[in-house]
Formats: sequence, C-alpha cells, structure tokens
Amino acid sequence: MTPEALATYGLSAEPFTKEIDDADLWLPPSKRALVDELVDAAEARHNVALVGEPGVGKTCTLRALRHALPKERFRLTYCHNVTLGRRDFYRQLCLALALPCGHNSGAVFWTINTHVEQLASERVSPVLLVDEAHLLHQDTLDHLHILLNYAWDSRALLSVILVGLPDLDDRLRLRRNRSLYSRIHHRLAIGPLTPEDTADYVRTRVLRVGGGKELFASDAVAMLHEASGGSLRDIDRIATLALRWAARRKRKAVERDLVARVLQAEGDRS
Ligand SMILES: Nc1ncnc2c1ncn2[C@@H]1O[C@H](COP(=O)(O)OP(=O)(O)OP(=O)(O)O)[C@@H](O)[C@H]1O
Ligand SMILES: [Mg+2]
Repeated sequence: MTPEALATYGLSAEPFTKEIDDADLWLPPSKRALVDELVDAAEARHNVALVGEPGVGKTCTLRALRHALPKERFRLTYCHNVTLGRRDFYRQLCLALALPCGHNSGAVFWTINTHVEQLASERVSPVLLVDEAHLLHQDTLDHLHILLNYAWDSRALLSVILVGLPDLDDRLRLRRNRSLYSRIHHRLAIGPLTPEDTADYVRTRVLRVGGGKELFASDAVAMLHEASGGSLRDIDRIATLALRWAARRKRKAVERDLVARVLQAEGDRS
C-alpha cells in the first residue's frame, strides 16, 4: 500500500509485515510463558525441542528469546540452513561462530568444542538455535548429542534449541535418535491461536503502527480466524489483502464482506 493509502487509516506502515522489531513482537501471556520457559532452559543450559505447524510463530518466539536474554551472558548462534550433511553443518556452525574452519570433520568439531569450553570459562552460555530442524540430515542428528558431551558428559556447557514442524518430534522419537531425545529436557509445542488470541493479535499489530481498534470489525476478525486456522502467517496474508481491498474501495474499516472476497479470490485461483 502507498504511504498515502496507509495514512487514510492513520497507519505509519503496513501492519502485518514480518519486518517487526524483536522488542515489538506480540507477546500475550501464553507466548510470554513460553519465552520464559526458553529463558530458564538457556539459563540452565538445558536442551529444547519446540514444534508447531507452519506460521504459528516459532521463529518469532526465538526472536523474542534473543531479545530476552542478556547479551553479556549468552552467545546465541542461529542456524537455519540445516539441509547439509554433518561435516558441512559443523563447518557452517564454525563460520557462524567466526571460528577458523578446520580441514577435516575432527578438526571442525574440536574447534567448536574448544570454543564452547572457552565461553563457559568466561561465564558465557552458548545457545545453539537450530531452526527448521525437522530437515536435519540423519547423520547430523546421529551426532548432535556428542556436541553436548563435555568433561566425560559430566558438564552442561551448551544449550541446543531445536525448532521445527511437528515432524521433528516424530523424528526425535525414533529409536535411532534416542540418545539425543533423552537429552532434550523440554519438549514444547506451539498450537494454533484461539479466537481471542487472533483478535488480540490483529488489534496489537494495528495499534503498533498507529491505527485504531475499529479498523478491523469483529466479525471480520472472526472470519479471519476461521480461515487462517490460527496461523499467524495466514492471518498476516489475509488481513493485508483485505486492508488493500478496503483502501481501494475507500472503506473506513475492514468488514466481513472484504475478508470473504479475499478468500473467494484465493479460492478461485486454486
Ligand atoms: N509474536 C509475534 N509477534 C508478531 N508477529 C508474529 C509473532 N509470531 C508470528 N508473527 C507473524 O507471523 C509470521 C509467521 O511467524 P513465524 O515465521 O515465526 O512462524 P513459524 O512458526 O516459524 O513458521 P515456519 O514453520 O513456516 O517457519 C511472522 O512473519 C510474523 O509476521
Ligand atoms: Mg520459522
């Protein structure tokens, strides 16, 4: 939408983009509780598996965690390109940690291990965030628990947070992955939004960019919720399109009929 079109609704920017600062993320009590649990896990150097369907807000939850953890005590490494074999996975990790990559797997692994020990000696907790972890190669999964072994497996120095679709949980439960699974202290899931959550989310995002509470009519929000199945990414998409329709038709608010037209147009195309 043009700045002029946005301004007619008092909006300083598009309300439903993914370009949202960590500090501005929507954190209702249920999400805040989840972030608190992740903070506690990182403090305790525990490992976590966090699963949920596409668009329910997993990666945004990691961003909220990044915002919540004090920078001086935690070193976060975010890794999302996981469709690599074990050797390249660790090499990528080395690069992300700004460490020199060794020539063979043993050297790369040793470099990472030594780095983790060094951070621990400086009282810094490393946290490895592996997003899209359901796509991890089996040979990386086979090896990950070895990365958690320090001082004959008597010290917890590193916290690994695996995030992915519910398939991740299915994979971790396989007998082959039991060594890793048994080291996952927190097994968490993000479910779809409730209707109240959806209403709160839409209101919050509109208010963040200067819009009014009445921009989305309540029956429009109810339809948005139903159509999105509680996925934030789907809410973003449908709400953005509905707002555009409203702007083009010079309507004061997004009402149910506009949401219905967006859904119908999407249905016609598929
Ligand atoms: N807490 C939040 N605050 C504000 N917006 C959010 C929040 N959570 C999710 N969103 C919105 O929903 C979109 C999808 O969220 P996110 O990328 O975190 O989903 P995901 O669960 O990681 O999906 P996928 O499995 O496809 O990677 C974001 O781009 C953002 O616009
Ligand atoms: Mg994601």
